[in-house]
Amino acid sequence: MTKDISTAQLQFAKDVENGLSASQKYLSSKYFYDAVGDKLFQQIMELPEYYLTRCEFEIFEQHKDDILQKIKTEGKFNLVELGAGDGYKTKILLEHFINKQAHFEYVPVDISHQVLKELEAGLKAEFPNLKVKALNHEYFKALKELNKMDATPKVILFLGSNIGNFTPATAQSFFKELCEVMNKGDKLLIGIDLKKNPKTILKAYNDEAGITRAFNLNLLERMNRELGANFDLNNWDHFPTYDPFSGECRSYLMSTIDQDVHFEILNKTFHFKNSEPIHMEISRKYSLDEVETLAKNCNFTVRKHFMDSRGYFVDSLWEKS
Ligand SMILES: C[S@@+](CC[C@H](N)C(=O)[O-])C[C@H]1O[C@@H](n2cnc3c(N)ncnc32)[C@H](O)[C@@H]1O
Repeated sequence: MTKDISTAQLQFAKDVENGLSASQKYLSSKYFYDAVGDKLFQQIMELPEYYLTRCEFEIFEQHKDDILQKIKTEGKFNLVELGAGDGYKTKILLEHFINKQAHFEYVPVDISHQVLKELEAGLKAEFPNLKVKALNHEYFKALKELNKMDATPKVILFLGSNIGNFTPATAQSFFKELCEVMNKGDKLLIGIDLKKNPKTILKAYNDEAGITRAFNLNLLERMNRELGANFDLNNWDHFPTYDPFSGECRSYLMSTIDQDVHFEILNKTFHFKNSEPIHMEISRKYSLDEVETLAKNCNFTVRKHFMDSRGYFVDSLWEKS
């Protein structure tokens, strides 16, 4: 596992400066995941309102054998997971694939060093014979690493509706780029949250216990810790929205007063007006038609949609044509 902390820190500072200098202020949601953010996200996955994890869990429990039959190759394959997190749901597949004596190596990729370290240790204890090659990289850097890998067939997992964090344009360029590092016949299994009753969706991002709020505020605390900022968390409010046309759930942090925040590392102060938002995250929902159009536009063929019993979530299996 490789990690260059100073480069990562520098990039974090640069991204924050760009986001807070924009006329509509924003922060990149990939920075949610420090050691505290990882733990908060694990709590989110257990919330009664956060249906996404339970849906994907059900899909894997119900369809793990069909998934294996559709992805397995004659010889060995590399099972690459982008944004693996704690691998909670992936372990269902890993256990089944091991029991069925599938010949594969697992390559989890995640920007969070801590979550990857814990995942590796957990896998070693649970599946001692599983070959694991963890990559502490951002998705796009991981794509370049994948490009350097040998011609062993690849099955790429992109679960938990991580795709929802992309705008439609970024999703298209991401999957086109991904397609280029794949060989004909390689597969991609993407977990995607589907459009549904807006109230169900909005509740998932506005839980009663306030964990999603704490998850968003943690990014302000992270900037205090790592960039020497002086955000006062009492002056910020969490505000999620959902637009049923675009399928975009958006999370904002709203400044509740006129305030200045200074960043020691940047030697810069940013002003926030009363009621001014910072856009924190997009969690975009798709229809099945939109999933199919995206696959086609990026040169993939949809092999199968694996759905949960309520039709809330899909794990869509694509093959490079
Ligand atoms: C919402 S969690 C989902 C984890 C897991 N895929 C699941 O379904 O439970 C997103 C994970 O992706 C990682 N991540 C987010 N943005 C990333 C990026 N740009 N590159 C690499 N990893 C990223 C985070 O660190 C986090 O562990």
